[in-house]
Amino acid sequence: MRKDTALITGASSGIGEVLAKNFALGGYNLVLVARNKNKLEALAQQLEADTKAKVLVEPADLSSSDAAEKLASKLSQQGIDIDILVNCAGVLEHGLYVDLTAKSHQGLIDLNVSGLTNMLSQFIPPMVARGNGRILNVASISAFQPVPSLATYAATKAYVLSLSESLAEELKDTGVTMTVLCPGITATNMVERAQQESSGLKIPDFIVGDVEEVAADGYRACIKGETICVPGVVNLAATVLGRATPKWLLRRISGVVGRYTLK
Ligand SMILES: NC(=O)c1ccc[n+]([C@@H]2O[C@H](COP(=O)([O-])OP(=O)(O)OC[C@H]3O[C@@H](n4cnc5c(N)ncnc54)[C@H](OP(=O)(O)O)[C@@H]3O)[C@@H](O)[C@H]2O)c1
Repeated sequence: MRKDTALITGASSGIGEVLAKNFALGGYNLVLVARNKNKLEALAQQLEADTKAKVLVEPADLSSSDAAEKLASKLSQQGIDIDILVNCAGVLEHGLYVDLTAKSHQGLIDLNVSGLTNMLSQFIPPMVARGNGRILNVASISAFQPVPSLATYAATKAYVLSLSESLAEELKDTGVTMTVLCPGITATNMVERAQQESSGLKIPDFIVGDVEEVAADGYRACIKGETICVPGVVNLAATVLGRATPKWLLRRISGVVGRYTLK
């Protein structure tokens, strides 16, 4: 029987869209959030037709400081409890720090850091009060080391990883689990856009992951309540090696890779 509701941000495309499909197939009702209302409505229609999920569309720009609070209050007025929160909305800017504008650095922080934190502030307390809930934050393997050419983006994802690991411990014994999904490069609009905007960006095909596999791994880890999920053997090996490598050496290696992507 369907009764729990999963709220998924960034559901209008890429990893978030496929996560929405996974949760609908897994028996959850959905609240879909992103800015593009038309795409969300098309997905909602498709998921309602293909599964038995009830799907609510709530368009929002989560980089606005009051967006999460407005969304939480709207859902609460409708009597909708959020049992699973998936924070997948995110933006990426590729290039040298000095070549990106102050506005684009701020845009990364407003959505990837502040938007995600505001969603957690609104939705964790009711989960703790009910003694039940699951959270899936989407970070990146760029969270594990410095990434020249993606400096601010990687820093925002390091924030998401650190926050999620701390909260996983804080939330122990509350009935609320915290999972952080750390995908490697995945074939979505985000990567396509970065390649179009940064004509020199070179990504070897063998490291580009499949969006269906990434989302399926994230869904499984969230349902099991695992803390860190790194999809793909190559990515997992890179994060394990990265954590075991001295910081100075990791910086040098990241510098070489970062410069290569900008040539
Ligand atoms: N693709 C990769 O290689 C990769 C690797 C590691 C981690 N990730 C992370 O995975 C997540 C999903 O990325 P993706 O690859 O699936 O990219 P994507 O296809 O570009 O999806 C990004 C999603 O975020 C939403 N979004 C963007 N700005 C927003 C805003 N201001 N308010 C609300 N929603 C907003 C977009 O919807 P609207 O435009 O409709 O708002 C879209 O649904 C991101 O957090 C990204 O950092 C991606």
